[in-house]
Amino acid sequence: MTGAGVDLAVYEAPADLARAAAELLADAAARAAAARGRAALCLAGGSTPRATYRLLGAEPLAARVPWERVHLFWGDERMVPADHPDSNRGAALAALGPPPRLPAANLHPMPTGLPPEPAAAAYEETLRRFFAAEGEPRFDLTLLGLGPDGHTASLFPGAPPAEAGRWAAAAPPPAHLTPQVARITLTLTAINASRRAVFLVAGRDKAAAVRRVIHRGAAAGTDHPAALVAPAGGVLWLLDREAAALLAV
Ligand code: 6PG
Repeated sequence: MTGAGVDLAVYEAPADLARAAAELLADAAARAAAARGRAALCLAGGSTPRATYRLLGAEPLAARVPWERVHLFWGDERMVPADHPDSNRGAALAALGPPPRLPAANLHPMPTGLPPEPAAAAYEETLRRFFAAEGEPRFDLTLLGLGPDGHTASLFPGAPPAEAGRWAAAAPPPAHLTPQVARITLTLTAINASRRAVFLVAGRDKAAAVRRVIHRGAAAGTDHPAALVAPAGGVLWLLDREAAALLAV
């Protein structure tokens, strides 16, 4: 289904939304591994994708994923230890299992044992090494969430745009969101280098932000950073009925 050049799919039940996203991730991993020998998936934080990660890490889907050739990255991370309940890495790996065939060396979590700026610089170095041949962070699929305020990853409204050319940046604790901890985030430069970006959004509290981002697009500007996500391969919105409630579909 598309509207105004936007690819979107709306699902009645949360379980159907989670399954669609999991199948998309599995398919992207299999296609990338077959085409280029490896797959680079960038995972979203927050709570919405956890059901998706559980499905991806379990049979029957897990069997479809060439885990030995999959590399997992994160779009943002809270500066808390990996075993902290607010850790995006901790939550994703707990939901995924993690899959037994996924080599530990293929996990590329954002470092949280450093102060935010050095941690962001370290992650940028990780990305630049991994994507040395491509010269830009060509994730095969970047999964993103959306906040009711229009943020994505840890790119918050009104925040100064990340330094030009940077692929990772530190983000101060958001005053209006929990957890109010410092974060590391991919920059828009990095997100927009992805082959494809997929927003996974559920819940009526997101409906107004979904409408502004989709209907106003980049005109929504930095007060809705999610509206600035525009990789060459396009953006796909996977929504539940609630999150799509204000869209004229
Ligand atoms: C984070 C996330 C953030 C998240 C949205 C939606 O670290 O908080 O990366 O961008 O995706 O806030 O979060 P929910 O899925 O929990 O609503």
